[in-house]
Amino acid sequence: MCGIVGYIGKAEAATVLINGLRRLEYRGYDSAGIAILDDDRLVVAKAPGKVARLSDKAHADWAPELLQRACTGIAHTRWATHGPPTEVNAHPHLDKSGNIALVHNGIIENYRSIRSRLEGRGHFFYSETDTEVLAHLIGECDKGDLFQAVCDALHQVVGTFGIAVLSSHEPDRIITARRGSPIAIGIGDGETIIASDVSAILAHTQRVIYLNDDDIAIVTADSVDVRDLHNVPVTREIAELGIDPAAAEKGGFEHYMLKEIHEQPDALGNAIRGRLDFNLGTSMLAGMGTSPRELAEIGRVVLLGCGTSLHAGLVGEYAFEDLADIHSEVQQAAEFRYRNPILGSRDLVVAISQSGETADTLAAVREANQKGAFVMSLCNVVGSTIARETGRGVYLHAGPEISVASTKAFTCQVVVLLMMALKLGRGRRFSREDGIKFAREIESLPALVGRVILQNERIAQIAAEYTNNEHAFFIGRGPMYPVALEGALKLKEISYIHAEGYHAAELKHGPIALLQAGTPVIAIACDVPGKDKILGNIEECCARGARILGLVTEGDYATAERMHDAIFIPRCHPLVATIPATVALQLFAYHVARLRGCEIDQPRNLAKSVTVE
Ligand code: M6R
Repeated sequence: MCGIVGYIGKAEAATVLINGLRRLEYRGYDSAGIAILDDDRLVVAKAPGKVARLSDKAHADWAPELLQRACTGIAHTRWATHGPPTEVNAHPHLDKSGNIALVHNGIIENYRSIRSRLEGRGHFFYSETDTEVLAHLIGECDKGDLFQAVCDALHQVVGTFGIAVLSSHEPDRIITARRGSPIAIGIGDGETIIASDVSAILAHTQRVIYLNDDDIAIVTADSVDVRDLHNVPVTREIAELGIDPAAAEKGGFEHYMLKEIHEQPDALGNAIRGRLDFNLGTSMLAGMGTSPRELAEIGRVVLLGCGTSLHAGLVGEYAFEDLADIHSEVQQAAEFRYRNPILGSRDLVVAISQSGETADTLAAVREANQKGAFVMSLCNVVGSTIARETGRGVYLHAGPEISVASTKAFTCQVVVLLMMALKLGRGRRFSREDGIKFAREIESLPALVGRVILQNERIAQIAAEYTNNEHAFFIGRGPMYPVALEGALKLKEISYIHAEGYHAAELKHGPIALLQAGTPVIAIACDVPGKDKILGNIEECCARGARILGLVTEGDYATAERMHDAIFIPRCHPLVATIPATVALQLFAYHVARLRGCEIDQPRNLAKSVTVE
C-alpha cells in the first residue's frame, strides 16, 4: 500500500527521502514522488513505476547544488486507488497556489463533493485522485498558519488519512496527521523523520512517536508538538524500537522471502523464548494479561484475520478445541463487523495480524470491543495500531518481515496460538504431564524447521518439475487443511500459478473435475489423524493422471513411494507439524516462482499492509 516519508534536518533531503521510499518498496506500490524545499520554493518530481525511476528523474531534473541545499521534503509511494498509476496521479499533490505539497495514505471518501464545491470556486484539478482535493482544501483554508489550515481541512473530510504537508511559506516545519492510516515520527539528532512505517526510520534513529487517530503534529528539525484536531496538546510517549537495522537487509540472500524462510528457526526461537514453563507444563504469556480464573471463564475463542493470518487462525481453531477443549471459531475479519456478530464478555477475541495495520482486522477489533468481548491481538509489528488498540496480546518477535508474501510471521503466529491453547488447556483438561510433553514439542520447533530447511536444494529440484503448470491443488485434512490453504496462497501470490487449497475430502465434490494428466496435486500426507483417508484421496487424483507431490513424515518410505515426489517432515505432534509442513510449502512456492522468473518480494498488485477496507 502507499508509503509516506518526510524529512526535516541537516542532510540532503532528497537522498534521505528516496532511501526511505526504498525501505517502503516492499509494501507494494506503482508510482512514486517527492517534493523538496529549495529556499522558499517547492520542487516536485514524480514518476510511474519504481522508486529507481523517480530517483533517476530527480537527479536528472535537479542540479546537484539544489539537492545539497534542500534539507526538507516529503515523498510517497502510491498504490493506485483513484485513477491509474500515472505521473500526474502520483503524490505529492499541490494546492491551487503551488505553495503547499501533500502526500496522503488512505481514502478521502467525500472527495467528490468537496471537489465540485472547489471547482465552483475556481479550482482546477489535474489528477483523478482524492488527495489533490485535500491539497486544494488545505490551500483554501490557509490564512497564514499551515497547522490551522490542515486542522480546518481535516474537519471537512470523511475517510482515512495519514498525511504529511509542506508549505514553502513555513519552511521550518512539516505538518503530519493520521486517522486510520499509521504515522510514526522518528526523533533523531537535529533531524526528524516522518514515515508510515518505521522501516524508513530505522537508519536514522530508534526513538519513535506513534500518532493516534486524530492526532496532528507540528514537526521541526528538533521538536515534535502533538495536538488533537481541536488544537489541544496531547502527550505521546517516545518508544524505543529496539530493531537492528541489519534485520531489514537481505543479508546475502537473493530475496527477502528466502531470507525470511531461513530465519524461521531463529524467529520461532524468539517467539518461544521465556514463554514455556516446564515445571507447570504451561506457557507464560504475560501480554495476555489474564488470571487463571479469567481464563477459566472464557467460553469461546474467536480468531480474526485476513489472508495468511486467517490461515494461522484456522490452525489455532484446531489447537483450542483439541488442547483446551474450548469452542473455537475463525472469522474472516472483513466480514466480521457486517454480520453483526454475537459476542459477550466470556468470548475471547484474538485478532491476528503481522502488520497490525490491516484495515479489516482493525475494524473487526473495534466491533469486538463494542460488543464487550475480551479482545487481544497477535501482532508482529511492535506499536502497530491493532497492538495498541487491543492493549493486550502477544507479540510474535519474528523480526521485520519485508517480503510481501508472509512466511515467518505465519509460523510465529501458529506457535503463539499453540502456546495460548496450551495455557488455556492447562486451566481445563490438560494434565501437568500432558502440558510438559506438549511444551517440549513446541520447544523443539526451531530444530524441526531447521531440518526442513536443510532440504532446500532438493525442494528446488522438485520445484523445477512444477514450473510449467498453470493450475495446482493443495489438499490436507485436520490441522493440515489450513496448511494446504496457506501453501496454495503462497504459490499463487508469488508464482502467479492458479492454486487452490481444499480439504482433501472436498476434491471429489467438484474440484476433481479440473484434474488432467499432469495437474499438480500437493498432498499433505504426514502421519496425522486421517492419513489413511488422504492416501485414498491421493489415489483418486492419481487415477485421473495428477502428478502428486507429497509431504510425508520422515522415515515413512512406504507413503513416499506412492508419490511422484516427496518432501520429508519431521515426526512430531500433528499440531506442531503444521509449522515444518508450511515451511516446506513456502520453499516449494519460492523455488517455483524463482524458476518462473517472478518478482518474488513484490508480487504484482499486492501490498504488504492492506490499509484500505
Ligand atoms: O498484516 P496482516 O497479517 O494483517 O496481513 C494480512 C494479509 O494481508 C496478509 O497475510 C497477506 O495475505 C499476505 N500477502 C500473505 O502472504
